[in-house]
Amino acid sequence: NRTIYTAGRPPWYNCAGQQVEPFVIGICGGSASGKTTVAEKIIESLDVPWVTLLSMDCFYKILNEKQHELALINEYNFDHPDAFDIDLLIDVLTKLKEGRKVEVPVYNFVTHGRESQTKTMYGANVIIFEGILTFHSSEVLKLLDMKIFVDTDPDIRLARRLKRDISQRGRDLKGVLKQYLNMVKPSYANYIAPTMAHADIIVPRGGENKVAIALIVQHVHTQLQLRGFKLRETLANSYKDQPMP
Ligand code: C5P
Repeated sequence: NRTIYTAGRPPWYNCAGQQVEPFVIGICGGSASGKTTVAEKIIESLDVPWVTLLSMDCFYKILNEKQHELALINEYNFDHPDAFDIDLLIDVLTKLKEGRKVEVPVYNFVTHGRESQTKTMYGANVIIFEGILTFHSSEVLKLLDMKIFVDTDPDIRLARRLKRDISQRGRDLKGVLKQYLNMVKPSYANYIAPTMAHADIIVPRGGENKVAIALIVQHVHTQLQLRGFKLRETLANSYKDQPMP
């Protein structure tokens, strides 16, 4: 896993000494479409030392008692844009883009709430921001340098979600199906699928689409080079012929 959080790093400078903004990739797609896998495959193939992976799930709002009761019976809509603290999300993403330190909430899907501790993150060369509604807010869209939509067959998404929610998120079969049919599926149609129109690239099948991942990585490399970042390989070559001190 090459995701490295840039603890203690200052903002980034190119060879001309100018501060460079990180390149921000937004990954959107339905639940269990393979967004995280696509992000991990991009990170694996990128020859870039500092990459931060930020999930939209971290920005779920804190529920009040009534909402929490609804969540426990699979009747709270976590797939509606109002379920997210969009102001906090914009604040965090803006600061990361400026190379500043942020405290990111840690979300717990079993308790439907935030953990008491937060995760400290710093700006990076590349920031990957993934989630079901990453293209919903026009403010957030402005912060994204590249927009990828992961388009995976709904049956596959439901099958994966059933498996994952039961094994990792403390749910049962009946509850997962109830939530899926009443909220996840309609919200995908109403709020998520229409945002595909904002995508620069649509990736069918998700992480297994090697050609799409390779094209994305190539584009990110080009963009980073244009901004003056040096890739790991270039740095290594530039030192190769120099005499040892
Ligand atoms: O990882 P993924 O993108 O699937 O996560 C988003 C999904 O998590 C949403 O579709 C939402 O229904 C679900 N969710 C949940 N319980 C929560 C928070 C989110 O089932 N407490």
